[in-house]
Amino acid sequence: MTSYFSGKVFLVTGASSGIGRALACELVDCGAEVLAMARNLERLEALREEKGLGIHPFQGDVTSSKACREAVEKAFCLHQRLDGLIHNAGVSMRGLAHESRPDVFRSLMDVNFYAMIDLFQAAYPHLVASKGHLAAISSVMGRYATHQRSGYCASKHAIQGFMDSVRLETMDKGIHTLVVSPGFVNTEVAKNALGADGQALNKNSDSIINGLSPNEVAKKTLRAMQHRKRDIYPAGAKEKLGLILSRFAPGVLDRLLRNIRVT
Ligand SMILES: NC(=O)c1ccc[n+]([C@@H]2O[C@H](COP(=O)([O-])OP(=O)(O)OC[C@H]3O[C@@H](n4cnc5c(N)ncnc54)[C@H](OP(=O)(O)O)[C@@H]3O)[C@@H](O)[C@H]2O)c1
Repeated sequence: MTSYFSGKVFLVTGASSGIGRALACELVDCGAEVLAMARNLERLEALREEKGLGIHPFQGDVTSSKACREAVEKAFCLHQRLDGLIHNAGVSMRGLAHESRPDVFRSLMDVNFYAMIDLFQAAYPHLVASKGHLAAISSVMGRYATHQRSGYCASKHAIQGFMDSVRLETMDKGIHTLVVSPGFVNTEVAKNALGADGQALNKNSDSIINGLSPNEVAKKTLRAMQHRKRDIYPAGAKEKLGLILSRFAPGVLDRLLRNIRVT
């Protein structure tokens, strides 16, 4: 059965785990081919074993501009087309702003935000040619903030601002931009989050374990791309309430969140 995604080529960053892995699987199930980028090649090869030849593993670190450009060109060279770029690779943090090492903030900005610029600039001509999709996996933390995540929130607010501007600049060229802002999703994000000392926490959190499944987020993302939506918020009730309060009653949200230590 053919689908909207059949025969299309996508580049997905952070495809070795969690939401990115689920996105790559869902795209392949819908008939697309995916250049799956991440640092952990073993995991990418396991993904190819599981999903077949539609997955093209590409080992690379998104903090390298060269690796980002190479990934885009590799994806394009598969079938002389690139129909979508999904920047999903991301790192979180747990640490108070005044205690966290400056390189924690820099690492988060490099992966979560600056990589998007390298990827977008390399992909731009191909996305214009295909009238394709530019998607960022942001977070509800791109719309409001909680304790211990100042650098993460800053990087996700940056992505939102960047995408909002790019949307205006590229709409006449036919590029579709989508920002996906999930709430808690059951992945390795908390384990991989950096502590104030810059080391990975290696500890899971109940909110994450009880979050949405990555597959659910992936399915909603594909649906949103097909219908060329602007922003989606796959999230639980509490995070959605946070979004509403942040818009209409930010002072109330501050009073609620000042005493809540979200893990
Ligand atoms: N889970 C949640 O609750 C949640 C909520 C809102 C938003 N998000 C966002 O969702 C996105 C995916 O995160 P996840 O929850 O799926 O977490 P995850 O399971 O920790 O996956 C993170 C992915 O990013 C990749 N990555 C990290 N640093 C990288 C780098 N320097 N270069 C290339 N790839 C890199 C990792 O691959 P390698 O280690 O193999 O490189 C991995 O594939 C992130 O942007 C995150 O902020 C997650």
